[in-house]
Amino acid sequence: MSRKKLTIVGAGNVGATAAHWAAERELGDIVLVDVVEGMPQGKALDLMEARPIEGFDVEIVGTNGYGETKDSDVVIITSGLARKPGMSREDLLQKNKEIVESVTKEAAKNSPSSIIIVVSNPLDTMAYLAKKVSNFPRNRVMGMAGILDTARFRTFIAMELNVSVEDVQALVLGGHGDDMVPLTRYATVGGIPLAKLLPQDKIDKIVERTRKAGGEIVALLKTGSAYYSPSLAAVQMAEAILKDKKKVVPVAAYLEGEYGLNDIYFGVPVILGANGVEKIIEVDLIPEEKEAVRKSAGAVKKSIEELKL
Ligand code: NAI
Ligand code: 2OP
Repeated sequence: MSRKKLTIVGAGNVGATAAHWAAERELGDIVLVDVVEGMPQGKALDLMEARPIEGFDVEIVGTNGYGETKDSDVVIITSGLARKPGMSREDLLQKNKEIVESVTKEAAKNSPSSIIIVVSNPLDTMAYLAKKVSNFPRNRVMGMAGILDTARFRTFIAMELNVSVEDVQALVLGGHGDDMVPLTRYATVGGIPLAKLLPQDKIDKIVERTRKAGGEIVALLKTGSAYYSPSLAAVQMAEAILKDKKKVVPVAAYLEGEYGLNDIYFGVPVILGANGVEKIIEVDLIPEEKEAVRKSAGAVKKSIEELKL
């Protein structure tokens, strides 16, 4: 059986780190694409030379073109500008629109059967753009945000309770912005509902920190945004697809009526397998959660309108 093929567009912080995680997991052969001459080639060669030490048998190629990406199974798009201090995700919209539009065209042309995972920000809007440009069906274009936002939520719960992160299960819905919707009612620790373990004011603080978690890292790094956890989240999605794992995870998916929303990319729980988004799972929401979803969807819709497609 031949190996699977994973293309990662953008060999910056998120892209190169994704290549690292994916190679280590032997997900398949990896093609790293960037516009900067020599940089993707250098990072790919460096990773190739790490193989004997760790023992992963996959090929990693760096390139400035799309010839090598031909017939990829999965394409992760990370190309674009990252947030700097004081810059909102929406500030990135116009610049990243041009970049994501052009790379999606090339990637889709060279790998017409692939599944696309968008990481570039503003996330839900860029996923929407990638679907329009590729003209792929909705199961084959998705955005990465929910796994990351949920991982942050789980981290802060585990830190507060001083328990293993493994035992914290949770779900964050909504757009990848400050209005995202951490569902505290669905959070459990070793099967125990979060509300039984923490007072409401502590839970509220955790929700607020989760919503601002991307900005917290930007303020600390000063020259860019988070990349270890974002790249690992994208690789977990690629792994679920390449290994047909049927993972239940939140991803930005194209909605056609689910959660009362239409023609929008929005973070929702899905089953992720060989066919991409195989099923969108609708969970029951109480009125205040529905209101939070409505607010978050309003922000995403506004951003999509700014694309002027
Ligand atoms: P970075 O600046 O380190 O890397 C971006 C790379 O894209 C650069 O190497 C640049 O040369 C490349 N690039 C620009 N135009 C290109 C083109 N036309 N074709 C190929 N490559 C091109 O930025 P970083 O930290 O890797 O972030 C990448 C994107 O991911 C940003 O938009 C950032 O906001 C987003 N992001 C999204 C997250 C999410 O949760 N969805 C989390 C973290 C980052
Ligand atoms: C993050 O959440 C900036 O979207 C990026 O870290």
